[in-house]
Amino acid sequence: MKKIKNITCIGAGYVGGPTMSVIAQKNPDIKVTVVDLNAARIAAWNHEDLSKLPVYEPGLDEVVKEARGRNLFFSTDVDRAIDEADMIFISVNTPTKTYGKGKGQAADLKYIELCARQIARVAKNDKIVVEKSTLPVRTAEALKSILHNTGNGVKFHILSNPEFLAEGTAIQDLHHPDRVLIGGENPEAIQTLVDIYAVWVPKENIITTNLWSSELSKLVANAFLAQRVSSINAISELCEVTGADVNEVAYAIGKDSRIGPKFLKASVGFGGSCFQKDILNLVYIARSYNLNKVADYWEQVIIMNDHQKERFADKIIKTLYNTVNGKNIAFLGWAFKKDTNDTRESAAIYVADHLLEEEAFITVYDPKVSAEQIYADLDYLGTRSPEENRRLVKVVNDPYEACQQAHAVAVLTEWDEFKTYDWQRIYDNMYKPAFVFDGRNILDKSVLENIGLVYQGIGK
Ligand code: NAD
Ligand code: UGA
Repeated sequence: MKKIKNITCIGAGYVGGPTMSVIAQKNPDIKVTVVDLNAARIAAWNHEDLSKLPVYEPGLDEVVKEARGRNLFFSTDVDRAIDEADMIFISVNTPTKTYGKGKGQAADLKYIELCARQIARVAKNDKIVVEKSTLPVRTAEALKSILHNTGNGVKFHILSNPEFLAEGTAIQDLHHPDRVLIGGENPEAIQTLVDIYAVWVPKENIITTNLWSSELSKLVANAFLAQRVSSINAISELCEVTGADVNEVAYAIGKDSRIGPKFLKASVGFGGSCFQKDILNLVYIARSYNLNKVADYWEQVIIMNDHQKERFADKIIKTLYNTVNGKNIAFLGWAFKKDTNDTRESAAIYVADHLLEEEAFITVYDPKVSAEQIYADLDYLGTRSPEENRRLVKVVNDPYEACQQAHAVAVLTEWDEFKTYDWQRIYDNMYKPAFVFDGRNILDKSVLENIGLVYQGIGK
């Protein structure tokens, strides 16, 4: 198989952008073009001011600075980029279906299929097509069927190369991945992709499997990670009624090398675009094979997570003397985790919705999320009119302003800066008793209590 000179990636989102930037950085002799239908997103990737890139990730600006214009390009000309490419990554979104069969569970593969049809229509020479998006197991079968029946004599090899980066640490994860997973049928095609990664990833960390194992492993990895969060969150509720401290329990069990210390932080609930979507997809696939016990088992991870978000909101209401009507609640954080501007499925959205149903006023401060995004997230729920959301929710650029005249402060995201605030100043400007609900267990309880704040963490 000939050496790859041109790579195209369809989809310039949270995965396509950072992943291709690093591939281009590490392979300066390969031209990498990232394309997207969304012209505004492409313009932002091409923005001269690197603080305006559409994805906020620590270290991403440096990588883009090094490669952009050299061998990394962002464009809306999808046809041309497909035509030029030897290898095409498909990195488009695969959200949960919102209509028809499998609504609310199955992955919506319409964007993937559109890409496959476009590749089939445009391609004039043989190409390797790589699934980068997270897909239901056996999606490659559908891709093959579309690509192999064009009748134009072009040959396609399909590989699965799921992405394991986490937002907020994407560049670190891409530079030093625990593993790179490549599934495929054709050994030469697999080797071509191995060679691209082997420039910077140690060979023993590049795993090759058959297509179906690779596709399924991605869903299973996310399911196991989310399961750990739901497990520790379930225990956090038990801690609250027994006097145990969830941080101490997590530390104690994490010391067992079979369990390990990572991913055991109790929280207001996991968010992000993928955990829920991928587990629902796993549940749907299991049900479609009539494996109902398997489906029920994994569904419980989502049920527990929904319970944790609801429980947090209920705790605020109960503590504020069973009513938040007309009270001011300050939200510190809106992103689904720190160091990202991504808010998809963030716990903050659902906690806010619950409190707004009780007619609370909410003032939000997040260091990276825009007011526009926060209103869009609330409007998307459709619980109340956009006018009502704007009447009840204020978004500010200053944390002290957010907490001014608040009855309670709720920490929804674990941004480091929240730990360094002048909590005395916050306390002085709040209604008394002044409550803090720490949905991330990041604040120092004793410091806050000495100031006079009434502190409630998770699982304590
Ligand atoms: P995203 O929504 O940020 O980006 C997807 C992009 O694809 C959008 O900009 C959209 O305009 C574009 N697109 C859709 N259809 C297109 C088409 N036909 N032609 C050109 N562009 C098109 O999504 P994301 O977060 O980057 O996720 C992409 C995939 O990667 C998903 O399957 C997701 O599950 C998976 N994934 C995401 C993460 C993450 O951290 N976000 C991590 C690992 C895997
Ligand atoms: C997750 C996986 O970690 C990645 O490997 C995967 O590639 C990605 O999903 C994906 O497929 O999209 P991400 O969602 O970006 O990455 O971030 P995580 O660090 O996994 O956090 C997910 C959520 O769980 C966040 O809301 C986080 O706050 C929460 N979490 C995480 C906890 O509440 N406690 C923990 O101990 C860890």
